[in-house]
Amino acid sequence: NHYVAIMAGGVGSRFWPMSKSSYPKQFLDILNTGNTLIQSTYERFASFIPEENIFVVTSQEYVSIVQNQLPKLSIQNIVAEPERKNTAACIAYISFKLKKMDPNANLIVAPSDHLIGNLDLFTESCLKALEFTSQNDAFVTLGIKPSHPNTGYGYIQYENTKEDVNPVIRFTEKPHREQALAFLEEGNYLWNSGIFIWKASDIIDGFGVYAPQIYDVFQDIYSLLNTPQEMQAVPYAYANCQSISIDYAIMEKAENVHIIPADFTWNDLGTWNSAWENLNKDESLNASNSSNTILVDSMGCLVHSNEQKVVVIGGLKDMIIVNTPEALLICKKEDEQQIKEYVERVKEVK
Ligand code: GDD
Ligand code: MG
Repeated sequence: NHYVAIMAGGVGSRFWPMSKSSYPKQFLDILNTGNTLIQSTYERFASFIPEENIFVVTSQEYVSIVQNQLPKLSIQNIVAEPERKNTAACIAYISFKLKKMDPNANLIVAPSDHLIGNLDLFTESCLKALEFTSQNDAFVTLGIKPSHPNTGYGYIQYENTKEDVNPVIRFTEKPHREQALAFLEEGNYLWNSGIFIWKASDIIDGFGVYAPQIYDVFQDIYSLLNTPQEMQAVPYAYANCQSISIDYAIMEKAENVHIIPADFTWNDLGTWNSAWENLNKDESLNASNSSNTILVDSMGCLVHSNEQKVVVIGGLKDMIIVNTPEALLICKKEDEQQIKEYVERVKEVK
């Protein structure tokens, strides 16, 4: 009864221009590992979940990329969304489908674009969570020890019982900086890894209670799911579905939430700085993805270029330089949060 739903419909705009909405970061090999992020994610789960039980939920426009990158994945296991309605809709859709296939489906929901180390520890945490949700009507998340007041994550206050599975007191999605700082000071907080474990039937009940609008649009088409009529029905459901993330829609409100503190290493690879942190660096702390970049007298820079040679000369410090056939980005590392905002403007110009 163990299943995985890999969410792969995001656009990864903070990794522009390498990540773009026609080819977002989950389909890129940002750290030059030989595998794209979604390929690594798939392999990680395929080592302990039957491959026929691994599903990828993505935008219609990425289905052919998923097929190319995951040739072992059957086309029936690629679930296409007609519109982007954030993670709540994505999770509701796959959960209703799985519940219909298998009323006891016990499910891991995972992002497609994270970096995870210590596969054995990761597997152990997932199996413990699945064991717990098979016995309890609960929502489980894997929690990461926070290292800095990052405002892009969910913060989870929990009761540390020193057991594997701990009760959650409060879930706060993307707090303000002051709040994040206060949480770190208090100490009994973990970051939400975005990896959730629950029974399909339980999360569906959760939608019923906390997000009835989303529950209703999928319940309305339930009889057509997994039938030849599904493809006609789903656009109707999505057109009427609220756009909200699972964190705001359910996790902040739900009561029976538990957390497993993770021992594995985890990196969200959310921004160019996190890529820089994870790449090999030269003695001046410059990182690059290829041998066609040359840096002279520069420090702490990240230079990515797929084709053209890039030469950086003379005292550049802590810069992000990314060169692709369509665009060139030059940005101070400290200003990287603004990339997302500019990507919106670039779209306007087009
Ligand atoms: N299928 C599908 N459809 N996938 C989606 C959609 C969608 O509409 N929107 C996002 N995704 C995918 C992304 O590709 C990513 O793999 C995952 O869902 C999470 O979405 P993000 O947009 O990356 O979320 P986030 O990083 O802002 O926040 C979440 O992850 C953090 C950890 O990385 C939250 O769960 C936070 O609480 C958490 O700390
Ligand atoms: Mg993310």
